[in-house]
This record gives sequence, C-alpha cells and structure tokens, in this order.
Amino acid sequence: MSDNIFTEELELNYTEVAPEIDFVEFEKVITSRRSVRVFGDEEVPEEVVQKAIEHGLLAPNSSNLQPWEFHWVRSEDKRSALSKMCFGQNGAKTAKHLIVCVAKTGTWKNNCQRMLASLEATSKKDGIEVPNAVKAYYSKIAPMAYGYMGPFGIFSPLKWAFYNTIGLFQVIFREPMFPSDLRTWAHKTTALACENIMLSIRAQGYDTLPMEGFDAKRVKKLLGLGCKDHVTMILGVGKRSAKGVYGPQFRFPKEDFIIKH
Ligand SMILES: Cc1cc2nc3c(=O)[nH]c(=O)nc-3n(C[C@H](O)[C@H](O)[C@H](O)COP(=O)(O)O)c2cc1C
Repeated sequence: MSDNIFTEELELNYTEVAPEIDFVEFEKVITSRRSVRVFGDEEVPEEVVQKAIEHGLLAPNSSNLQPWEFHWVRSEDKRSALSKMCFGQNGAKTAKHLIVCVAKTGTWKNNCQRMLASLEATSKKDGIEVPNAVKAYYSKIAPMAYGYMGPFGIFSPLKWAFYNTIGLFQVIFREPMFPSDLRTWAHKTTALACENIMLSIRAQGYDTLPMEGFDAKRVKKLLGLGCKDHVTMILGVGKRSAKGVYGPQFRFPKEDFIIKH
C-alpha cells in the first residue's frame, strides 16, 4: 500500500495529555457491573441516562462514522409495550428506562460527507489544511470499503471476487463484502457504545441489563425503524433490587481465553 491515512504520520500540531486515573475506582466499576434481572422501585434521574448515552457516543467506532442510534424509551406506555416485546423479561418489566441500541448500515455514506465537512470547518477555523490522506480516506477509501455492494448486495459477489483476487498478491481488507458483513460492522461499533453506557450507569450508582431476547421486528415497528436499522441490544436501566442479581459472577478459567503468542 502506498502512503495513506494508516501509514502516513500526520502533522496536525495537536497534543492531548492523558489524565491520571484512579485505577481502583475504575476496577470497581468494571467488577460491580452485573446483569440485573429485577430492578427496584427507585427512579433513575434523567441526567444519569442522558450522561450515560453521551458516554456511549464517545466509544471508539469504525472510521468515526458513528453508525448508531440510541432510542431512549421513557414513556410508560411505550416501555410497557417494549417490555412485552422483550418476552416479558423481569429485567425489562421492572426497568425505569429502556434504551434500544440500534446499529445503522444506511448512514455511512452521508457520515463520510459530514466528516469531510466538519474536518474542513475545523481546519478553516484553525488555519490549517485537512491532510490529503484524510480527505482521500473519506472520499475514496471508505466508500471502497463500505460500499460497492449494490442494492440488496447484488454486486457483493463481484466485490468479493475482485478484492480476493487482489488479496492473492497483497495485504487487503476482506470485509465488509456483503450486506451481512456491513451489519456486523455496525453492530461491533454499537456494542462498544453499549458497554460504555452500562459502565457509565454503574459508575453513577445504577444498574443495567443488556438484552438480546426480544422480537426485533416488533421493536423496529414500535420505534419506526427502517430496513437498514438493526437492533444490537436493548438496555434495561434501574437500581438493582436485593435479589436482582442471580448469583456471583462466573467466568470459565481465563487460561481458556487468553492465548499468548
Ligand atoms: C448482547 C447480550 C444480550 C443479552 N441478553 C440477555 C437477555 O435477553 N436476558 C438476560 O437475562 N440476560 C441477557 N444478557 C446478559 C448475560 O446473560 C450476562 O451478561 C451473562 O450471563 C454474564 O453475567 P454478568 O453480565 O452479570 O457478568 C445479555 C448479554 C449480552 C452481552
């Protein structure tokens, strides 16, 4: 690959100093986050959820294209309808807020343009040029990576064949080639935001339940979502009741999952 956004060292005249972190407190947030199946009666202030979703928006995300949306369901009647669509799970029924986290496969193109426009605006303000490698990334490379699939992915087999032929001779990206890969792409990034939201809510003294047990079709209809919107998970938010956590946190031995090369 010739010089590009990945290989070029950009001269941006910008420094950001990393602040000190209280690691003990950080670890407490991680280890005390549990999936809470029954929430108590305590209300969760709106500011807590607002802040948490804002923290979700700060999650790392693919190409900074932010292919997500968070539908904060607060009204009693919508929450009740939604909890039925979560198979009546107690964690949904007793939640004070429900957040439907949506991965979007239809916004990347427009967001490439938005990225270019906001980079241009910031550069103009600071009196510096947007590096060509960055411009090329959003105008050429990102469309090559996320596009060229055609409606319903009719061109995907051609895209796959093209990239895999080139891939015989050089390092090249292999996904997303098909619309299903694009869904995975958007879900990956949205799930990172979900974790930020859950940790933020824990850090503010409240609890969550991530759910994938729901009827996606009905949920999408309730929220007016389209065919390029995919529900990654639904988060129940509340304060854990005394018996809301069903047992100590269990994981298989870490040696099974940490593979050192
Ligand atoms: C994507 C996802 C979907 C989940 N869906 C459900 C669900 O529908 N209902 C439920 O009770 N728990 C659900 N869980 C919670 C998991 O069962 C739970 O995270 C796991 O048992 C580990 O427990 P812990 O979160 O307390 O560490 C889900 C978790 C994730 C990450």
